[in-house]
Amino acid sequence: MTAQLIDGNALAQQVRGEVAGRVAALKARGVQPHLTVILVGEDPASQVYTRSKVADSEQTGLGATLERYPADMTQADLLDRIAALNADPAVHGILVQLPLPPHMDSHAVIEAIAPHKDVDGFHVASAGALMVGQPGFRPCTPYGCMKMLESIGIKDLKGKHAVVIGRSNIVGKPMAMMLLAANATVTVCHSGTPDLGALTRQADIVVAAVGKRNVLTADMVKPGAVVIDVGMNRDDAGKLCGDVDFAGVKEVAGWITPVPGGVGPMTRAMLLVNTIEAAERTSR
Ligand code: GUN
Repeated sequence: MTAQLIDGNALAQQVRGEVAGRVAALKARGVQPHLTVILVGEDPASQVYTRSKVADSEQTGLGATLERYPADMTQADLLDRIAALNADPAVHGILVQLPLPPHMDSHAVIEAIAPHKDVDGFHVASAGALMVGQPGFRPCTPYGCMKMLESIGIKDLKGKHAVVIGRSNIVGKPMAMMLLAANATVTVCHSGTPDLGALTRQADIVVAAVGKRNVLTADMVKPGAVVIDVGMNRDDAGKLCGDVDFAGVKEVAGWITPVPGGVGPMTRAMLLVNTIEAAERTSR
């Protein structure tokens, strides 16, 4: 069997089109939705990510500003800037790019963002809302994974067993919550879980979000299962690869997401969804 691909690029393009329509509708009512992205320091990867976030926003008609600050900015100054953005009605979404320089407490910084502008979905209020089924912002990566499942007709997961490998606060844990909310039976593992394969072989859906190559191999997958690969790693030749042994697993799985071109573009697209949602909520 050869798995069907879930094309993240194509789906992200569709999502961006939907966002563009919502942006146009809001603009027609005189509201210009706006995202402010804050980058502290010179981390090269962060510079690329933040530039893409602004470019993606502008492409859909969202206003976007990248605010760059030196690596020696004080935390107090950053908190002051966030407070000003919280109070600015022209700014609907605030995203502080991580990692922050080591002298800063990321948790304190994220908690300073007003929950109604927390388009990354990293605030404890957002995590709590997800936990108890209240409206809030969902972290973009797991939200994008849920959209990918939806795109192949999997919406209600009643009777399905989902195994999540990885338990980070921004992917594994919220992913598990979203799967539970969709009525799946959910098992959350980590890369060191004993006999991981015994669990993943029972899964109708496997989400791999560890950040390590070959966490999931063909022998660990039930024939026909849906495999979502959140990993972003480099192979020995320096080529981008995920957490899943794609070549092997695609012969067993029913559906699989590629890396690149899978979850990555969806993560980017879901930030736009959260931003337009933030603007719509405050202008209702
Ligand atoms: N750094 C790497 N990924 C992310 C993300 O999704 N949001 C933020 N704020 N920082 C990141």
